[in-house]
Amino acid sequence: MEFIDLKKQYQLYKEEIDSAIHEVLEQGNFIMGDQVRSLETTLAQYTQAKHCIAVSSGTDSLQIALMALGVGAGDEVITVPFTWISSTEVIGLVGATPVFVDIEAQTYNIQIEQLEKAITPKTKAILPVSLFGQMPDYTAINAIANKYGLPVIEDGAQSFGATQHGRKSCSVTTIGSTSFFPAKPLGCYGDGGALFTNDDILAAKMRAIRTHGGEKRHHHTCLGMNGRLDTMQAAILLAKFPHFEQELKARGKIGAFYSRALAGYCVIPAIQEGNTHVYAQYTIRTPERDGLAKFLSSKGIPTGIYYPKCVHEQPVFASLGYRKGAFPVAEKMAEEVISLPMHPWLTEEEQIKIVNAVKEFCCIPASS
Ligand SMILES: Cc1ncc(COP(=O)(O)O)c(C=O)c1O
Repeated sequence: MEFIDLKKQYQLYKEEIDSAIHEVLEQGNFIMGDQVRSLETTLAQYTQAKHCIAVSSGTDSLQIALMALGVGAGDEVITVPFTWISSTEVIGLVGATPVFVDIEAQTYNIQIEQLEKAITPKTKAILPVSLFGQMPDYTAINAIANKYGLPVIEDGAQSFGATQHGRKSCSVTTIGSTSFFPAKPLGCYGDGGALFTNDDILAAKMRAIRTHGGEKRHHHTCLGMNGRLDTMQAAILLAKFPHFEQELKARGKIGAFYSRALAGYCVIPAIQEGNTHVYAQYTIRTPERDGLAKFLSSKGIPTGIYYPKCVHEQPVFASLGYRKGAFPVAEKMAEEVISLPMHPWLTEEEQIKIVNAVKEFCCIPASS
């Protein structure tokens, strides 16, 4: 059994993917080939964002977003302590200071009622994460941001394809950022990412920063980076994209089956009203997390821990001075979360085996 079955996916779409790859090889236009622009048009249309800028990864995309907003030394950026390191790393990379707000235990997303308290005169941006595949309440977040004139960057690395009141992830904030890391809901065969915005000026800046700050060839107006998406990865994504909605449906169905079967045995993911969830991870919670992981492994069921340590507890951020207990919800989640296999091709038999094994281990019904 696979945690995420990328080999199966390739076998299913082999013809389209092989032909897309060969076309790039034949064309020989490996950097900024036509497929990059075509992917940007396709994804802008899909999200209904005015602009899409394809970039080299979901980490570089966040950094480009911060650079385009002019975030730098002396500025603060508000984010969460329970996420992949990238969301905070980029804040440090541009010279700014991350300011954390704890998360909700139900959705693993930012505690919106704490957000306003974290805003100071130094705050330059808010960077919430749509963790595991669902968005925090961006209507509420945008309302707070607007009150203080702050931009919002959605880290939608895990939520591409998710919706909130019918609007797609990456299209509801000043800038949306996603990742095409192979294991993500829409993944390429290497590193990749994309930025989304409705703002023409920000879009132009992000395009320039993606290519060494060059507004046109040999004319560099700002510091940038080599942040382009390879033509090959764009071609692969274009070949996979027609199957994406079908894959999301299958993920949703498996998630709903898990949740029906496991309710009462462990803490299952809560879906906020108005949201759809793409289950980049199907994450449950139990105080016996490590025992459950061992038990499932003994039955041939792979699991993942996202994340065993909060970002504020990482040595790289020790200088920020946060101590254990600073963000009690995030820290508790880090001790209790465990993610189950999730991909569109898990068979019914596999799904039943997984839920039966979890139930067998967590035979005492859980309280949240
Ligand atoms: C929440 C979050 N943010 C950012 C990233 C960074 O994406 P990438 O691996 O494409 O740089 C990831 C991916 O792992 C992620 O899960």
